[in-house]
Amino acid sequence: MSILEIDKKNIWHPFTQMKTSPAPINIVSGKGAKIFDENGNEYIDAISSWWVNIHGHCNETIQKAILKQIQKLEHVIFAGFTHENAALLSEKLISILPENQNKIFFSDNGSTAVEVALKMTIQYWKNQNIQRNGFIAFEDSYHGDTLGAMSVGSRSVFTDAFSGYMFESYHAPLPSEENIDSVMTQLENIIQEKKPAGFIFEPIVLGAGGMRMYEPKFLDMIIELCRKNDIIIIADEVMTGFGRLGKTFASDYLTNKPDIICLSKGITGGFLPMGVTSCAKYIYDIFYSDDITKTFFHGHSYTANPISCAAANASIDLLLSEKCQNNIEQIMNLHNEFIQILKNNDKIKNIRQKGTILAFDINTSDNEGYTNQIKNILYDYYIKNGVLLRPLGNVIYILPPYCITKDELNRVYEIINLSLKII
Ligand SMILES: Cc1ncc(COP(=O)(O)O)c(C=O)c1O
Repeated sequence: MSILEIDKKNIWHPFTQMKTSPAPINIVSGKGAKIFDENGNEYIDAISSWWVNIHGHCNETIQKAILKQIQKLEHVIFAGFTHENAALLSEKLISILPENQNKIFFSDNGSTAVEVALKMTIQYWKNQNIQRNGFIAFEDSYHGDTLGAMSVGSRSVFTDAFSGYMFESYHAPLPSEENIDSVMTQLENIIQEKKPAGFIFEPIVLGAGGMRMYEPKFLDMIIELCRKNDIIIIADEVMTGFGRLGKTFASDYLTNKPDIICLSKGITGGFLPMGVTSCAKYIYDIFYSDDITKTFFHGHSYTANPISCAAANASIDLLLSEKCQNNIEQIMNLHNEFIQILKNNDKIKNIRQKGTILAFDINTSDNEGYTNQIKNILYDYYIKNGVLLRPLGNVIYILPPYCITKDELNRVYEIINLSLKII
């Protein structure tokens, strides 16, 4: 049986209607910004494979770090034991995260990093016998697919089936120059009425919600309001972390720093799953007690896996290198030039860029957003032309690995330009 036949027989793919979706492409290898299929076709991975491969595919530095670790220790239970790579990684993270971040809690992916942040916040109040209720979040936000993470995300076709099983959260519109006063008033009312436990947000760019961007100054205003009301501030940097928006973290654009930060995706350079939830000391201190009931009872089997930690240490070193920082700068400059070309195209609107992300919307008479069917036509066109781009409904975005070359990025722009001629 071929790989595709075995796949069809056995496998249930994520976010995929198995009845109507075409067969997947069998990828056999990757190098840099490219992946290669079983028939010898190559594709420029312009979305860093679900936003994880910040250094591209098969990066040799990360490969070597993994190989070295595999020969020493593959895994060890992380309660009652620790190891060198976890310690090194915690030091590294604390040195690059906003100054108030003081403790590192490991988990396995973006959703678990968010679950941990939510549970930490809930128990932070419970440990002090203070009644707080639910979370503030933004409309169109996405925080993952586990039940807690879905509960704080916006409601959509993704969450409909589970509506009776999610807890309440209070969604405010994304702030802009036009609505900031009304958003602040709405939030003040929610805070007065509900006394929320925390405020969770994707800082500056809402990823899965359509690469929607908003100004750090408005987020700073909202954080200030929440802080005045003792609401715990949670930045979900699962997508925005590790250089994606130009600075190491999106929180680096903020004056008011979060209490808790969720990380995943780029942390290991896309080699291995890992989630991290960092927090300020004053959060941790509320759990630090002789009373066993104040313990944070949460953990996962692969918590702080030594191989994942080794990959993360190598990936962060690469990110901080001059070469990588120059690459990020180059992507931002090239995006800027492409925007000047896109501006003349009347088939599109809302052209936007933050750091290495460039996005725009296709004008459409159908419903905007994820269910817009133009994504299927465009996705097929991009694949046929050797570019991996995965539109979010009528939103086209580029989120490349930092190692992408100028020629590769120009090819992505060329194919996008051509695609706009077929619609
Ligand atoms: C902002 C944000 N938070 C959380 C998640 C969930 O991460 P994971 O898919 O690793 O569970 C995602 C995934 O896209 C995300 O973009």
